[in-house]
Amino acid sequence: MENASYRSLPKHPVLTWSSLRGALLPPLTSIDNLKYTAFTTSGRAAIYQALCLLELPAGSTVLVPSYHCPTMVAPIFLAHLKVAYFAIKDDGLPNLSSIEETTAQRCKAILVPHYFGFSNSLREVRDWCDARDVALIEDCAHCYFGQAGERTVGAWGDYATASLSKFFPVQEGGVLASSRRSVAKLHLKPPTMTAQVKGFTDVLETSAKFNGLYGLNAGLKLIFKLKKLLKNKVRAGKKINQDMISYCDMARIDNKLLLSSLLIKYFSPSNMIVKKRQRNYAQYENHFKSATQARPLFDLTAKDSAAIAPYVFPLWVDDADRIYQVLKELNFPVFRWDKLWPGTPIMVNDAGPLWSKHVLQLLCHQDLASREVDNIAKTIIQLLPQPSA
Ligand SMILES: Cc1ncc(COP(=O)(O)O)c(C=O)c1O
Repeated sequence: MENASYRSLPKHPVLTWSSLRGALLPPLTSIDNLKYTAFTTSGRAAIYQALCLLELPAGSTVLVPSYHCPTMVAPIFLAHLKVAYFAIKDDGLPNLSSIEETTAQRCKAILVPHYFGFSNSLREVRDWCDARDVALIEDCAHCYFGQAGERTVGAWGDYATASLSKFFPVQEGGVLASSRRSVAKLHLKPPTMTAQVKGFTDVLETSAKFNGLYGLNAGLKLIFKLKKLLKNKVRAGKKINQDMISYCDMARIDNKLLLSSLLIKYFSPSNMIVKKRQRNYAQYENHFKSATQARPLFDLTAKDSAAIAPYVFPLWVDDADRIYQVLKELNFPVFRWDKLWPGTPIMVNDAGPLWSKHVLQLLCHQDLASREVDNIAKTIIQLLPQPSA
């Protein structure tokens, strides 16, 4: 079978010489444009910090979507709050009618993501929150750039949260932002010098692994030796001995962003990042538009796909269990959100459980070459049932 395993493919952007090309172009509209912004160590840390800034009474309920990654839920438990769930519609927006009135009355905040990079207007959600005095946390982990309907992405939320490592070649990083509430009360601890050094070497190590920085290999080997020496000295952050929370790795949620992440983010050309993601997305779309028993989750016109900065290409696959298993064995850059938080309820009119089973998230980041995207798509198409002649 033809496949793309001739080089192990990165699941996140990687630092390469071309990562910095075009850094002087004007940046695109993004969550960075909101009035108040602060960097955190991750998207999950930003959610946790948003909850802390809201100063909700202990035990308050926070609503999350049934289709989620556990890292969206863990911060709520860490903040000593309760979780309730809402169903999602076919476009990924909350199905607000799935929230019972008694739950709505207990609820003090709601976490609403823009899935896969497809931003939507959150007008209806904003109105629902305003009518009930519920805080809206707009989860932009998949959607760093662009407009969400009438507003800039992130501007609907009381707070907006984002993940740097999904869009920039950094090992860790997140953003907590708001168009309406100050983040000045955020008190994050500065990272230790050891963590700073480790941060730089981690970036370079990953880069070398994927042949990102041609010409620096010998020097990098020396740095990795240093990293090995430091390895056991870095103190892990506070860990709570609960299965799901340790699965989510909530260490360092109280820390400031590492200098390495800050510098790389600052010098990364957002125009190039978005353009390459759109190119890779369009390639996937082209491959799968006439596939058998698989289809792009969203039926986008060419104009729509040019207006988004995709995080992944969401592919609906009928026989997803079998195909995802093969792709995992091939170590392809594909995710599926099939690990839900225990207790996630089954609700009527909810696209969530179907997406958890059938939607494969094919990475389309800027460090996947065009031929690699072609090979991933062709490999998947070969695994699908062939159309009858
Ligand atoms: C929608 C969404 N929100 C939040 C997060 C957490 O982001 P991070 O991995 O940067 O902590 C993720 C991670 O996958 C996510 O997909």
